[in-house]
Amino acid sequence: MDKRPIGIFDSGLGGLSAVKAVLKYLPEEDIIYFGDTQRVPYGSRSEKTIEAYAKDDIAFLEQFNCKLIMAACGTVSSVAVNATSGIKELFVGVVKPAAAAAVNATKNNKIGVMATWATINSGAYTKEIKALEPKAEVFGVSCPVLVTLVENNWIDTDDYISREIIRRYIDPLLKDGVDTIILGCTHFPHLAPIIQSVAGSGVKLIDNGFEAVMQAKKILEESSLTNEKGRKGTAQYYISDKTQNFSMIAKTLLGIDISDKVTFKELTEKF
Ligand code: DGL
Repeated sequence: MDKRPIGIFDSGLGGLSAVKAVLKYLPEEDIIYFGDTQRVPYGSRSEKTIEAYAKDDIAFLEQFNCKLIMAACGTVSSVAVNATSGIKELFVGVVKPAAAAAVNATKNNKIGVMATWATINSGAYTKEIKALEPKAEVFGVSCPVLVTLVENNWIDTDDYISREIIRRYIDPLLKDGVDTIILGCTHFPHLAPIIQSVAGSGVKLIDNGFEAVMQAKKILEESSLTNEKGRKGTAQYYISDKTQNFSMIAKTLLGIDISDKVTFKELTEKF
């Protein structure tokens, strides 16, 4: 048994898709979440910048003595490999678990990946999928506008504009005949109901945040590092800018009010 918290980070609200899965599947665990709201979005930036941001995020979480750190960010998991490979705690990213789930789910070996520009450009998902299933065909589409939709809470299934934007991104994947789509940016599972209704029920969506949490659960259980069963874990949320919206949108995304658990922490402070 290990009482230390799990540290989770993302550029903003996206990583809450992983938090949601921890609350449900690892309810006994304490969570420290860091959303770099000061510098979101990450996905349109250079490798050098993303590496530097990832290092700061990890350094921030390391002050909490975490037993496991999760990059609940497809962009960091794909691009900032130098930053994440240096982590001294147990580490889980979202790319490998999502790639494995997609290979498992596809029937026709045609897998779509919706992610940020930096993630698609890195080819990270393609590499992981091909390593598991060389016959798989991978079709990537970078969807930067979807990050903005989530950061602005345009996630309602009835939202006509969001729907049309999603259609524009998904149509090429459907023409390519994919039967599985990886939501390769952790912001995108928050749009899953719209994406599913546009893609149709024949397409299986892979939630990378959820898959990363399942991987973390496995690692913690196998190493006997889970917290005491039956206890109720706590969660603290830190953000690097006083984004008024964070608590409000988080309430929609998580279905709980976290406003008294959100702390503003300037990244210029020494950790
Ligand atoms: N949620 C992140 C990802 O999974 C980052 C999105 C962004 O900041 O551009 O890629």
